[in-house]
Amino acid sequence: MIDATTIVIFGASGDLTRRKLIPALFKQWRKQRLPAPLRIVGFAFSDWDTATFRSEMDSGIKEFVEEDFRQASYDDFCDMLHFVQGGFTESDDYARLEAAISELENDTTNRLYYLATPPRFFLPIVEQMHAQGMVQESDVAWRRVIIEKPFGNDLASAQALNTSLHKLLDEQQIYRIDHYLAKETVQNIMVFRFANAIFEPLWNRNYIDHVQISAVESVDVGHRAGYYDQAGVLRDMFQNHLMQLLSLVAMEPPASFEANSVRDEKAKVLKAVRPISPEALASHTIRGQYAGYRDAPDVADGSETPTYAALELYIDNWRWRGVPFYLRSGKALQQKATEIIIQFRGTPHNMFPIPADYSIRRNVLALCIQPHEAIHLRFETKVPDTDIDMRSVEMNFEYDLAFGKDSTPEAYERLLLEALDGDPTLFTRADSIEQAWRIIDPIIQGWQTAFAPPLDEYVTGSWGPASSDLMLSQAGRHWRYACAEH
Ligand SMILES: NC(=O)c1ccc[n+]([C@@H]2O[C@H](COP(=O)([O-])OP(=O)(O)OC[C@H]3O[C@@H](n4cnc5c(N)ncnc54)[C@H](OP(=O)(O)O)[C@@H]3O)[C@@H](O)[C@H]2O)c1
Repeated sequence: MIDATTIVIFGASGDLTRRKLIPALFKQWRKQRLPAPLRIVGFAFSDWDTATFRSEMDSGIKEFVEEDFRQASYDDFCDMLHFVQGGFTESDDYARLEAAISELENDTTNRLYYLATPPRFFLPIVEQMHAQGMVQESDVAWRRVIIEKPFGNDLASAQALNTSLHKLLDEQQIYRIDHYLAKETVQNIMVFRFANAIFEPLWNRNYIDHVQISAVESVDVGHRAGYYDQAGVLRDMFQNHLMQLLSLVAMEPPASFEANSVRDEKAKVLKAVRPISPEALASHTIRGQYAGYRDAPDVADGSETPTYAALELYIDNWRWRGVPFYLRSGKALQQKATEIIIQFRGTPHNMFPIPADYSIRRNVLALCIQPHEAIHLRFETKVPDTDIDMRSVEMNFEYDLAFGKDSTPEAYERLLLEALDGDPTLFTRADSIEQAWRIIDPIIQGWQTAFAPPLDEYVTGSWGPASSDLMLSQAGRHWRYACAEH
């Protein structure tokens, strides 16, 4: 295969391109990891030319790339940038785009198309490219398409989009983004589980009492209110990020690290998640909305859109039968934290003469995903100079301390590199997306019916509705904040 590559960004005048994609490409170029020769062609509606594109991206790099990376002149990088103005649904504009790209490419060249566009354009763009022959691969040059999120609005629309895409592209040409998968801390879940011999033997219903997966945010809906009011927290966070974290924590060990082996296991475990029946919605789901949400611009009067949700899910297989997986996410909460808590079972018998007011605490393993990047293991220890007083202490691994500050690159850096390398492991396959919708869709639908739990209001800056705490306390459990506290 050849190295010469063109990256074509659809939606190149948008926020994602300026804030994430170009800075990520720039950093990888600085690290000399990009193929050469490389051209980056932007396509969007704005009345820009190549000079405008270069100066806009230059300002994006200055704003979003740390100074250490910028150092001397980077004119060579900006020289790789080109812009073609056009509309996503105008076939003439695709003919112009194809002509402009071909003129830049001296010889046979690979192409990576990045759809950084509103989701309604994903299919029309691929259709237009297909009609122009732009996605046709050859023996030596590949054509890949990165598709942003959200992928579908429900199970039916995700299936329809997959079916339509599969008529135009092979599955191996499609790279569906879930940027959570490229976070170093998320990639490390598989390494932690499967490159260490001591955790996996305990990783099952015999030793684990329950699992918590939280992705909580302190920001409110802000300028995304228009989109968010249509989507709500289940589409925004659960269908994609939380389901992906769940599959990594709960999947069986793949036979190899090859993309399809990993993706097979992820899809399999999602398939084993028991859908929540309408009758169980009131006891196994919580929906909340922060006070003041309805006053935000672009939010419908009397909106019932949930900004917080908590779910109690079960995985019906040998490893996990009966172990609750508590998932929660919300906006306008006390802190920003994404974390996975593995709560182990207690010891089978207490042999120590401990004070009546002390009970031996259970071991907790916390995988801290962001912004605190760490792994903490809590265990009991004897307090020195006492008979047998005990205290919980932690064994800590912090990314910053182990690997140096700022050791973890932005997710988009890794994703772009993986797509250029043709490794789809960190991208979501069609079946995983559909399985995730199969779990989330009935909840979204059920919340429109009389089976729905009440929409509980919560105070901004709190930890969400009291009903969420109650769901766990009724089972003798409580939400943990093992990463937020650090
Ligand atoms: N921004 C983020 O941080 C972020 C994070 C995660 C995922 N995403 C996803 O990334 C995608 C893009 O997001 P974004 O924030 O960059 O959106 P955005 O700022 O609204 O940009 C949309 C881009 O699409 C172009 N566009 C829209 N309609 C067009 C048309 N008919 N013909 C040609 N160009 C058209 C716009 O061009 P003009 O402005 O020139 O008209 C602009 O370049 C979305 O799927 C979003 O969900 C974004």
